[in-house]
Amino acid sequence: MATNRRVRIKPTLDVTAWKFMRLSAILLIPMVWFHTIFTTLIVGAENVNLNLVAARWATISWRVYDALLLAFAFSHGITGLRQVLFDFATGATARKTLNILLLLFWLALSVVGIIGIVGGVAK
Ligand code: HEM
Repeated sequence: MATNRRVRIKPTLDVTAWKFMRLSAILLIPMVWFHTIFTTLIVGAENVNLNLVAARWATISWRVYDALLLAFAFSHGITGLRQVLFDFATGATARKTLNILLLLFWLALSVVGIIGIVGGVAK
């Protein structure tokens, strides 16, 4: 006879990171597909240049799309890197230090990306 059992898992940072990896992966599949098909098949990789970026970013929806793609892909990458590094750093102090360093790195590069997307392309 099968037994059904519900387990309550405390929402720690690790549990949230685990869930985020899966959620961002699901969102990345259609977003990366669209990005790749658009740049390689619709526009053509040889036509990707600053003028194209400027033309796309003239529309707010393209900026929002690119900002979301950057946010999900970069946050997914950093959270995944944290997972990989935690396989080696097992001590509490080392993990705390890594959390802080990765957060600062994530913040710094995200700010650069957001400034780029919000600031747009200077012609
Ligand atoms: C369509 C795009 C992507 C999908 C569907 C995807 C899917 C996933 C999934 C499901 C995991 C969790 C694996 C696990 O915990 O067992 C994972 C881990 C990971 N992903 Fe992605 N990913 C994508 C793009 C990316 C990108 C763009 C990066 C880098 C910027 C990246 C870096 C990583 C890293 C470093 C891990 C951790 C690997 C580990 O724990 O050993 N992924 N990915």
